[in-house]
Amino acid sequence: MWGNLGQLGAQAINDTLDGMDVFELSLSSMTTRFWALVPAVLLGITAPARSFDFDSACSSITSQISTPNATVFFSELVPAGTNLSFPDNDPTCGRPSQVVLTDTCRIAMFIATSNDSGINFEAWFPRNWTGRFLSTGNGGLSGCIQYEDLAYASALGFATVGANNGHNGTSGEAFLNHPGVIEDFAYRSIHTGVVVGKSLTETFYGSPHDKSYYLGCSTGGRQGLKSVQDFPEDFDGVVAGAPAADFNHLLDWSGHFFEITGNTSAPTFLAAERWVDLVHPDVLSQCDEIDGVKDGIIEDPNLCNYDPSDLVCAEGNQTDACITEIQAETIRKAYEPFFIEGKLAYPRIQPGSEDVPVFYTGAPFIYTADWFRYVVYSDPSFDVTTLSEKDWALAQELDPFNISTWKGDISAFRDRQGKLLTYHGQADGLISSKNSERYYDRVSDIMGQESTQLDEFWRFFRISGMGHCSGGVGAWEIGQTLAGAGGVGSLNLDPESNVLMAMVRWVEEGVAPEKVLGTKYVNDTVAQGVEFARAHCRYPLRNTYDGVGDPTKKESWNCL
Ligand SMILES: *[C@@H]1O[C@H](CO)[C@@H](O)[C@H](O)[C@H]1NC(C)=O
Ligand SMILES: *[C@@H]1O[C@H](CO)[C@@H](O)[C@H](O)[C@H]1NC(C)=O
Ligand SMILES: *[C@@H]1O[C@H](CO)[C@@H](O)[C@H](O)[C@H]1NC(C)=O
Ligand SMILES: *[C@@H]1O[C@H](CO)[C@@H](O)[C@H](O)[C@H]1NC(C)=O
Ligand SMILES: *[C@@H]1O[C@H](CO)[C@@H](O)[C@H](O)[C@H]1NC(C)=O
Ligand SMILES: *[C@@H]1O[C@H](CO)[C@@H](O)[C@H](O)[C@H]1NC(C)=O
Ligand SMILES: *[C@@H]1O[C@H](CO)[C@@H](O)[C@H](O)[C@H]1NC(C)=O
Ligand SMILES: *[C@@H]1O[C@H](CO)[C@@H](O)[C@H](O)[C@H]1NC(C)=O
Repeated sequence: MWGNLGQLGAQAINDTLDGMDVFELSLSSMTTRFWALVPAVLLGITAPARSFDFDSACSSITSQISTPNATVFFSELVPAGTNLSFPDNDPTCGRPSQVVLTDTCRIAMFIATSNDSGINFEAWFPRNWTGRFLSTGNGGLSGCIQYEDLAYASALGFATVGANNGHNGTSGEAFLNHPGVIEDFAYRSIHTGVVVGKSLTETFYGSPHDKSYYLGCSTGGRQGLKSVQDFPEDFDGVVAGAPAADFNHLLDWSGHFFEITGNTSAPTFLAAERWVDLVHPDVLSQCDEIDGVKDGIIEDPNLCNYDPSDLVCAEGNQTDACITEIQAETIRKAYEPFFIEGKLAYPRIQPGSEDVPVFYTGAPFIYTADWFRYVVYSDPSFDVTTLSEKDWALAQELDPFNISTWKGDISAFRDRQGKLLTYHGQADGLISSKNSERYYDRVSDIMGQESTQLDEFWRFFRISGMGHCSGGVGAWEIGQTLAGAGGVGSLNLDPESNVLMAMVRWVEEGVAPEKVLGTKYVNDTVAQGVEFARAHCRYPLRNTYDGVGDPTKKESWNCL
């Protein structure tokens, strides 16, 4: 995705976003070019005159920071198009460099959060500030500032912050005997970053932000929900993808697949490649056309009751193109909901997600292993191959710092006029998309609100054919990330197609998103053109083919 960008890419994005300069001009002096280039949502926003010297603000900011417990590292002015490198960033983060898309003042500091923990925090403040504040999130068990998200949001004019979630790198080892680090991970990194970030924004620009936003997926989705549940004042608008909600049960569930598959030499084991080349096509042959279109996308996997029996080899004719009855049983178990002590703990993984097999490697899932070693049992040598029901139950019972993120009453967020947009790829092989429905239904029950009532402040979009947060055979580009907005040089900021800009429009103009228009580019490459588009419906409505139109056109689908 990032390979062939270079200067040309940076120039292209400058051109695309050029229109934003006119924030400082009056509406009447706007050129035709401006109207053509700037998303409608931005037009309604009249940024107050913020005439100040950006360059000198950036060089003097470090001496003005009086944040308690903060050690300021530096501030630097980074011109648009710069390819920033991060030589000190933990290599497991896989983020050695990032192209910065707009003139940015980058500020870095450490903020102690307790006597044994703290966060590495960065603020990316754009020259062309819209008055909006935004916090980014994290992923997995990390430990990694998501620089691509900082670049994306700052390019859109948000004063953007991100932190390392209390430790460096993707491993959970830092949690060991450091409850402060776990507490940062559970909620405190984001909240601290928001409190510090908002104040820093005001110090920097000389006036407070107007509206505050959050954007994150996976663990980042959980962090967004955590804010909604426990820090309702932090954000006006939260975009939370594939949330790792019901976190303890999620890690239990992720771990239980190893119980089902066994190790790579167990008779129950089926190699990951077989899930891709045997099971996935078989799932599609049974379920792809339930929605009336044979396109490799299962619009609603809830309707798919997959049975692998047809894959079982004929008696005495064992080949690579078929499986044993024992392996078929493994597959059946993998698609069952997960119970602990007779109670539903986590819903099933959805059929259709097995084209990216995560849990079928014959080894304990790494996040589960880390969580049990470094948090649940505080014992690095704990044998994670024998985890079973009593361990699953214990993890849930511990629920350190309420990391479960499962509160059903989110009325405080609603009552302060907050808006929440969640999305979940229906082919997510890491966090079951069914769990996002389950959370929606839970809130609906606990708050006694029908979906028509929840619609006023929360809309949940099921994105068919999307994997974990991005990618997949579906129309998965919905503006959820820089790459998911078309990538450098081709940003699609239309609020109909971009969940972040849809949120801005909802918060600032009161126009709620009815659908989210997803785009699938040929080979996921904008330059190769649009392969198809599909408007994704909000739960509990379902993407439904009209039976006659061209299924690659959004007009051929309705929400029913
Ligand atoms: C940015 O620099 C790194 C080396 O620091 C390089 O690997 C990467 O390809 C560069 N990115 C772009 C888009 O030029
Ligand atoms: C931001 O403002 C500067 C100066 O007004 C302008 O040169 C630039 O093109 C604008 N847009 C972006 C995206 O940086
Ligand atoms: C974490 O990484 C940052 C650089 O990204 C570095 O400044 C900091 O010292 C690291 N912290 C630890 C505890 O290694
Ligand atoms: C500063 O750090 C101390 C512990 O070292 C902590 O108790 C306190 O809450 C922190 N203050 C802020 C504002 O985070
Ligand atoms: C650190 O804080 C914890 C909890 O607030 C406290 O129990 C402990 O004594 C403190 N340790 C030091 C070295 O101050
Ligand atoms: C793999 O699992 C089998 C039981 O299915 C067990 O007998 C064997 O010891 C395991 N192998 C390893 C390397 O753990
Ligand atoms: C967890 O949440 C419950 C209920 O909101 C609260 O009573 C409790 O103090 C919280 N525990 C922690 C460690 O934050
Ligand atoms: C799609 O992209 C891959 C990797 O960039 C490339 O190898 C392949 O040739 C491309 N396919 C088409 C049809 O452009």
